[in-house]
Amino acid sequence: MDRQQRIIQMFNDISPTYDRLNRILSFGIDQRWRRNACQAALQNHGRPVRHLVDVATGTGDLILCWREAGRATGTPIQQVTGVDPAQGMLELARRKVKNARFIEAPATSLPLEDEAADMVSISYGIRNVLDVDGALREFHRVLEPGGHLLILEFMSPARPGLVDRIGRFYMSRLLPKVGAFISRDPEAYSYLPESIQGFLTSQALVEKLEAAGFEMVQVKDDTFGISTRFVARRPPRD
Ligand SMILES: C[S@@+](CC[C@H](N)C(=O)[O-])C[C@H]1O[C@@H](n2cnc3c(N)ncnc32)[C@H](O)[C@@H]1O
Repeated sequence: MDRQQRIIQMFNDISPTYDRLNRILSFGIDQRWRRNACQAALQNHGRPVRHLVDVATGTGDLILCWREAGRATGTPIQQVTGVDPAQGMLELARRKVKNARFIEAPATSLPLEDEAADMVSISYGIRNVLDVDGALREFHRVLEPGGHLLILEFMSPARPGLVDRIGRFYMSRLLPKVGAFISRDPEAYSYLPESIQGFLTSQALVEKLEAAGFEMVQVKDDTFGISTRFVARRPPRD
């Protein structure tokens, strides 16, 4: 099994406890990050969403937030597709999220036509994709010109300060213990802090987005930069 396959297998293994642990480990703040990010993306989009594609959808939490944000901003969201390579996560998503179709696939190879979507999102997923450039190219391909991309992620800090050090202590010492206890999978919850430390800074991701053909609309840190939101747009046709 290669490294990417091992990551996907790990998400399959922890899928039964994933939702409960997410709420406990982030004290529920993650739901607010998701909701605010969806609202910001919809406000920038400024029109009904024809087809939303949520990549690395996991158990489908972000899709529920998209719908809530759609109601809050009066923006209808018509067709919804969730994509994830972990079958265990998708089974839970299918039970939890109605009126959406779910497809098993990695971010780097979306089984969708060119320009099939006008909104693409990925929350806390891009960090697990080893070929980030390949995934961003794929998001650009499936988005129609003028369509938006929303990324939420725990980025690696550019200049670690006091808050980062506290955050890192929580992530590297406390979180793996609580996560291992509840999920009974110690490896999975030591992977989380490691994957954040090894990931890109916000600036590096912006450079990759621009290289893939996106224009940046918004980069915003939430809760002292623990989570960062990126809204980008595939430039419209002239
Ligand atoms: C931390 S979970 C996030 C799930 C969900 N988006 C959320 O916000 O709760 C990361 C997800 O990324 C998926 N994943 C792992 N490798 C991937 C890849 N190469 N392409 C797409 N998704 C991947 C995992 O299966 C998992 O469901």
